[in-house]
Amino acid sequence: MIYPIVIYGSPVLRKVAEKIKKDYPKLDQFISDMWETMYYSDGLGLAAPQVGKSIRLFVIDGAPLEEDEPKLKDFKKVFINPKIIEREGEDIPYNEGCLSIPLLREDVIRPEKVRIEYYDELFNFYDEWYDGIAARVIQHEYDHLKGILFTDKVAPIKKRLLKGKLISISKGKFAVDYKVRLSK
Ligand code: NI
Repeated sequence: MIYPIVIYGSPVLRKVAEKIKKDYPKLDQFISDMWETMYYSDGLGLAAPQVGKSIRLFVIDGAPLEEDEPKLKDFKKVFINPKIIEREGEDIPYNEGCLSIPLLREDVIRPEKVRIEYYDELFNFYDEWYDGIAARVIQHEYDHLKGILFTDKVAPIKKRLLKGKLISISKGKFAVDYKVRLSK
């Protein structure tokens, strides 16, 4: 099932998401719907709050960026109950976008490397370091679970300019090929 993507302005995008347990109802189905929704919407990553579920889960498939970074070819993962426990390296700017904030892109500064603990779809536990674009996407999706959006992180001088654009987006003044859901 393809979910509509929840758009900027919806309260669920601002909530702190809840941890889930292994017996979360229909978890397998939900994860498969997350993949389907992400591919349909042409996203690199998708966090559960973006489909209206405030739970600590996100999916990432870095394959479309293989040209920029060959190792992303095999970076396809489900992150459940993730926790970033260390950040390292330089703060780096990178141009980010988000399915919940259609057609808007801005440079966001984030640390180069992260260490993250998480469970996969079978509830196997991992404790891993990521760098490069993988670390970037992980941090973006992880923020969604805290109710943080990339536009919160742009330079203050840009924030005022952004405000009007974000209001238009929340009202649905954009055209994209994927399904969306505006705040009511
Ligand atoms: Ni996003």
